Amino acid sequence: MFFTNTLVERLAHARHVAVLTGAGISAESGIPTFRNPGGLWDRFRPEELANLDAFLQNPELVQEWYEYRRNVAMNTSPNPGHLALVDLEDLIEDFTLITQNVDDLHRRAGSKNVVELHGNIMRSYCIDCGRPADDFKPNDEGPYVCRDCGGLIRPDVVWFGELLPEEAVEQAQRSAERAEVFLSIGTSAIVYPAAGLPLLAKQSGAYVAEVNIEPSAIAGDMDETIQGRAGEVLPRLVEAVHRIKPHSNKRNGQL
Ligand code: OAD
Repeated sequence: MFFTNTLVERLAHARHVAVLTGAGISAESGIPTFRNPGGLWDRFRPEELANLDAFLQNPELVQEWYEYRRNVAMNTSPNPGHLALVDLEDLIEDFTLITQNVDDLHRRAGSKNVVELHGNIMRSYCIDCGRPADDFKPNDEGPYVCRDCGGLIRPDVVWFGELLPEEAVEQAQRSAERAEVFLSIGTSAIVYPAAGLPLLAKQSGAYVAEVNIEPSAIAGDMDETIQGRAGEVLPRLVEAVHRIKPHSNKRNGQL
């Protein structure tokens, strides 16, 4: 697990940094990834669970699956990878953390400028009136429904065949375009538009690096690939940046 001095120096001197995370960063918290052996899509068929038609056909099954995933996420904690990104955010003047994860662990770790491209499993809403519904409870007599209008309650996540939230995509693209350094962490980089962000950053002049236990689909386009676990690589990387830049501009009030 090695990163270059170039990466450390660039991070230490960058004003704009963007990071894209995927399921791999939460793997060390105990949340299964989608595509590694034993991953979620091995055990459950996405077409049965993660699309609107499937939900309308069998809302209880889909609600149950998300309830299960919500419980898994709630019973885990952010790991040193999530926490290192909180430290990094503190050091960088303009820092954007773009995540494909819906597990809420970046926010729980304390990251502030988080762009959730695929939603957040902790939020739900009514498919008829749109009312946010974060207080629904098990219902013995059928699927969870809205307290106001009786519509079905769905998780606030992006399903197959659905568009990503427009504002999140725009924010992510803008931060990729202005980034001097872009880190792609724990993602297989096969689901677009997220997978296009590191390449957009590179075309816009950023130094792009990947942290993954194995090369992703876009590893060949990276300026640097760091093979290793996010929870081990990121704390060391941020520690190395700290050695060059011990204090945050933000803390010194120099913005
Ligand atoms: P994947 O499951 O496709 O990929 C996880 C990546 O993390 C793989 O490249 C692993 O090699 C890597 N990995 C595993 N453990 C790691 C660790 N400890 N440290 C670093 N890397 C590690 O997950 P995503 O790329 O996030 O979308 O998947 C993208 C999207 O596909 C998801 O957001 C989801 C899914 O369909 C929706 O649900 C809309």
